[in-house]
Amino acid sequence: MYIQDLHTTEGQKVNLNGWVANKREGKGIVFIILRDGTGYCQCIVTAESAGEDGLATAQSLSLESSITISGLVVKDEKQIGGFELHANAVQVVGKSENYPIAKKEHGIEFLMDQRHLWLRSTRQWAIMKIRNTIIYSIHKYFQDNGFILMDSPIFTGNAVEGTSTLFETDFYGEPAYLSQSGQLYGEAMAMAMGRIYTFGPTFRAEKSKTRRHLSEFWMIEPEMAFCDIFQNMDVIEGMMHAIITDVLDKCQKELEIIGRDTTTLKSSLNKYPRITYDEAVRIIKGEQDVNGQNSIKSLEDELARVLARLIEIDADVADRTAKIAAGNMKKGEINFNQSKIDAMKQERADLEEDERNIPQWIASARNFEYGNDFGGSDETVITRLFDSPIMVYDWPHEVKAFYLNRNPEDTRFARGVDVLAPEGYGEIVGGGERETDEAALVSKINEHKLPMEAFEWYLDLRRYGSVPHSGFGLGLERMVTWVCKLKHVRESIPFPRMYGRLKP
Ligand code: 4AD
Ligand code: MG
Repeated sequence: MYIQDLHTTEGQKVNLNGWVANKREGKGIVFIILRDGTGYCQCIVTAESAGEDGLATAQSLSLESSITISGLVVKDEKQIGGFELHANAVQVVGKSENYPIAKKEHGIEFLMDQRHLWLRSTRQWAIMKIRNTIIYSIHKYFQDNGFILMDSPIFTGNAVEGTSTLFETDFYGEPAYLSQSGQLYGEAMAMAMGRIYTFGPTFRAEKSKTRRHLSEFWMIEPEMAFCDIFQNMDVIEGMMHAIITDVLDKCQKELEIIGRDTTTLKSSLNKYPRITYDEAVRIIKGEQDVNGQNSIKSLEDELARVLARLIEIDADVADRTAKIAAGNMKKGEINFNQSKIDAMKQERADLEEDERNIPQWIASARNFEYGNDFGGSDETVITRLFDSPIMVYDWPHEVKAFYLNRNPEDTRFARGVDVLAPEGYGEIVGGGERETDEAALVSKINEHKLPMEAFEWYLDLRRYGSVPHSGFGLGLERMVTWVCKLKHVRESIPFPRMYGRLKP
C-alpha cells in the first residue's frame, strides 16, 4: 500500500513501507511522520494499540530509519495527506544513526554535498514531483499534437551554439564534443518526419557561476518543417500553457509545500506579448513604458521601498530582542517573537541582495548599447514589467547563431526568438526560423570560423528539398526553476553538474 492511495482504504488495516521523516513523543505515545515517496502520513503508536514492544520500537526510531508499519487507516482532514494510521505493529527494516541533515538550517554547500540525502527532504521531494509533472506534460503536449520524439546523438563532431562552450572527449582517438544542442540533427529529422521533438541531455562548458547555468541540462527541442517564426511562437505558447495548466492542476500540494505564490503562473496562461528586439531595448532603457510603468523609475521606486523596509526591520528586530532580554515573557511568547526575528533576518538577507543588485540593474539598463545581446540583468529589468513570459524576436544577426534566417523586410535582423520568464527569471526558451539558403549558410559558417566539412551533411538539407522551418529549445531546469520560483537552478535537477560541482 502506498500513502497516496490511503483514501481508498479508510477504515481498513494496511501495511505501509517507508522512512521516518519526523518523530514526536509524548507520554506513552509516539507520532511518526512516515514518508514513502508518494506522500506523508502521520502514524500513531501507543502501547494500547501496538503493545509494549511496538511502543519501544517506535520510541527507538531515529530520523530516516526505514520501517514497515501496519495499522488502521483513519480519516483526519487536519493531517498532512488527510489520513493517519493507528499502528498496531512497527518493524525496523534499516537503521539510520546520526542522519547528517538535521531539522535545523544548513548552509547550501553542505546540502549540495549531501545531495544524495537532501533529495529526501520535503521541499526537494515537492520540486522533483513538479519536475516530473512538467516532463510528462511536455511529452503529452507534443504527442497530442502530432510530433514524433526522436533522439539526437550526444557525441558530435560539430558545434551548434558557439565553439567556446564545448566539452571535448576522446572518441577512439578522434576529438568529439558532447552535444550543446540537438537542433541540427533535429532539422534533418524534421525533413524526414515533418514535426519532431528531442528530449535529451545537453552540455555547455561555461565557467560561470550564475544561478542560471548548469554544465549538463535537459533540453526539449521541437523542429517543424513548413513553419515560420510566428507559427513557432504559437507552438511555444501552446506548450507553455499546457505545462503551466498541468502544474496548477496536479501539483497544488507541492506548490504549497515550496511556498509558491501562483498569481504569476495563472497570469502566464494569457497570451504572451511579442516584442521586437528594438522595442525591448527601448523598454529596458526606459524610453518606452509598459502599461504605464517605466523600467528605470520602477527600479528606483523599488530601491526606495527596499531601503525603507530595511530600516523598519532593524527597528522591529531591536524592539523584540529587547523585550525578550527584559526577561518577563512566557516561553510561548518568546518562541513567537524569536520566530518573527528569524523570519525578518531571512527577509533582510533577501533585501540586502536587492539593495546590491538594483543599482547595478539601473546602471546596466541606462547604459545598454543598442546591438548587444541581453545579459542576465537586462532580462531581469524587462521581465519585471510583465506578469507573463514575453517573446523577444528579430535580433541583430551579429549576436545570434549562424543558422538563423533573416527578416526578409529588414535583413539586419535574424529571426531568432527568446522567451523570457517573468519575476526576474529571464531566458527559458531560445529558438527561431532557420536559414534555408545554402549560399547564405556557407557564408555564415565561414564568418563564424566553423569547420565547413563538419557541416556538409547539414548543407545537404538545403540542397535537397529545402523548406522554411523553425524550432526552439526549452531548458527544462530553467522552466522548473521559474515554475517553482527557486533562487538557483541547482535545486531543479536531481544531481546538478555545474562549474565547481561534480559530486555527488
Ligand atoms: O538559447 P540556446 O543556446 O539555444 C539552442 O541551443 C538552440 N539550438 C535551441 C533550438 O533552437 N533548438 O539554449 C536553449 C535553452 C535556453 O533558452 C535555456 O533555457 C537553456 O536552453 N540553456 C541552459 N540551461 C541551463 N544551463 C545552461 N548553461 C543553459 N544554456 C542554455
Ligand atoms: Mg539562447
